[in-house]
Amino acid sequence: MRAGFADRYGPWALVAGASEGLGAGFAHALAGHGLNLVLAARRAEPLTALADALPTSTVTVSADLSTMEGLRAVVDATDGLDVGLVVANAAYSPIGSFVSMDPDLTRRAVDLNCRMPLELAHRFLPPMVARGRGGFIVMSSLAGMQGSPPITAYAATKAFGAILAEGLWAELRGTGVDVLTCIAGAVATPNLAGAKARPAPGTQTPDQVARAALRGLGRGPRVIPGLGMRVSSALMSRLLPRRTAIAIIARASRDLRAPGIPAGPTG
Ligand SMILES: NC(=O)c1ccc[n+]([C@@H]2O[C@H](COP(=O)([O-])OP(=O)(O)OC[C@H]3O[C@@H](n4cnc5c(N)ncnc54)[C@H](OP(=O)(O)O)[C@@H]3O)[C@@H](O)[C@H]2O)c1
Repeated sequence: MRAGFADRYGPWALVAGASEGLGAGFAHALAGHGLNLVLAARRAEPLTALADALPTSTVTVSADLSTMEGLRAVVDATDGLDVGLVVANAAYSPIGSFVSMDPDLTRRAVDLNCRMPLELAHRFLPPMVARGRGGFIVMSSLAGMQGSPPITAYAATKAFGAILAEGLWAELRGTGVDVLTCIAGAVATPNLAGAKARPAPGTQTPDQVARAALRGLGRGPRVIPGLGMRVSSALMSRLLPRRTAIAIIARASRDLRAPGIPAGPTG
């Protein structure tokens, strides 16, 4: 536990997309730092089970964060709470050929993966700046560092999240508010297990990724958890030609599948 973490980022943290996987990992790690938690996701049952397992105070909000109504419900639930840290974690990834895909699916990805962190930043950053302390984490992905079929739209939304966070990090330097994007490689979550037949080499646990992100707060604009992932990121983004990087990701993602959506040409 880092000394002063709760003073700097507490007493309440909001985890958007907390019911399982990485969001639940963040909730456990933050409770370990003594923070109280607002836990938001669509499914009430796993949220309640998680809340019951945490040692600090919790509020659960069952809401669809891809809608403005859901976002308002989360904001309303934080009324009167001193929220010092926000983790924009929930994401949706439609998998398959873009041209065969229902446009509603890619709209949903943009609504959840881009509009959600943007709206939460508008709502929570100004009071943090006024107080002179706080933190904001946007979950991104190595998939967002280049074109990534057959998760083309998802990858583009993850690029948005990373760039949004880096810009906010620069804007808010010196205010006491730390913004960070956590650019994860493969993480062993139920979501990944449902989409991928075999785990990729170097797959990390939600706990490892959440802890790396929290350690990275206040130390720069981005963190890439795991040495192997940092090496692969440097190779893909700095050394290889773009078309080679895109081909490598397409090959690594070829066993990704979602029911009802045909795989793309690279799938
Ligand atoms: N898993 C990986 O390999 C990996 C790799 C790189 C980056 N990431 C990033 O890490 C983050 C977490 O990924 P994940 O694999 O743990 O799972 P996920 O499928 O992104 O879901 C995580 C949480 O978000 C909630 N959620 C999903 N849609 C929602 C919605 N419309 N409204 C409210 N909550 C919603 C889910 O709960 P409900 O279903 O109850 O709503 C769940 O609690 C994402 O931002 C992802 O892009 C993941």
